[in-house]
Amino acid sequence: MKKPSHHILVCGSFRMNGTPQGVCAKSGALNLLQYLQETLAERGRDDVAVSAVSCLKVCDRGPAVVIYPENWWFGHINSEEAIDALLDSLEKGEPAKEYLLE
Ligand code: FES
Repeated sequence: MKKPSHHILVCGSFRMNGTPQGVCAKSGALNLLQYLQETLAERGRDDVAVSAVSCLKVCDRGPAVVIYPENWWFGHINSEEAIDALLDSLEKGEPAKEYLLE
């Protein structure tokens, strides 16, 4: 496998005891994973990996997504429009300021 140039971490609110119970999962973050994967494929971004992860500790601003290696942290990613903005960020090399967590 070729190493990805970018890695997108999507908070899945996973907890040690198994069941996702946090804000991001309740807000439908995991429902957007398929859209994220499909849109990456449509854009020809096979260099970008996507992983669902445990709580990113910014629950009050979830659903949360992080893009590495840029170390861009985004909040309120709860729509296809928001996902599109994140992927536009990758293409432009600048984070979507409306979702960026400082
Ligand atoms: S549950 Fe997503 S940041 Fe905590």
